[in-house]
Amino acid sequence: MSPIELLIEKFELAPHPEGGYFKETYRSKGSIALDALPQEYEGSRNFSTSIYFLLTSDTFSAFHKIKQDEIWHFYAGSPLMLYIISESGELSEHCIGNDFEAGEVPQLVVPGNHWFAAQTIEKDSYSFVGCTVAPGFDFADFVLPERKELLEKFPEHSKLIAKFTRTGEF
Ligand code: GUN
Repeated sequence: MSPIELLIEKFELAPHPEGGYFKETYRSKGSIALDALPQEYEGSRNFSTSIYFLLTSDTFSAFHKIKQDEIWHFYAGSPLMLYIISESGELSEHCIGNDFEAGEVPQLVVPGNHWFAAQTIEKDSYSFVGCTVAPGFDFADFVLPERKELLEKFPEHSKLIAKFTRTGEF
């Protein structure tokens, strides 16, 4: 069994719409009422949720956004690159991994309402990470745009967007 197959089987990972595989590992019992959340939310949300996320070299995590900050944690495998674009078009790039001397970081916060994509750096490899959010994740807060939409918004990042978006339905 390959390391990727092992991770998928051992942690019961399922395909994620953005690419890669995931499994929710934590969903707080408590929840935040709609009237206590910022106006952008459309319903109550759990206090917090967390997932395992597995990205492989033969794919990528496509540009998407959620409303809340998302904390990424590195666990195993190849370092990965995270590309983050703010609503005003500012791009930042971060390498998440455990070669700290090389400048990789084991933890990174993606600010809420920012567009982000990720790619495993090494060939024929995988990146096994965790993603934690508060308020808790809900697919109602998840936006996965088509390439055309993002290209129109951020023409200055057309190369990156072409690389890390898909063209249609999955
Ligand atoms: N649960 C399902 N998908 C996701 C995701 O992309 N991020 C987080 N944090 N939780 C999820």
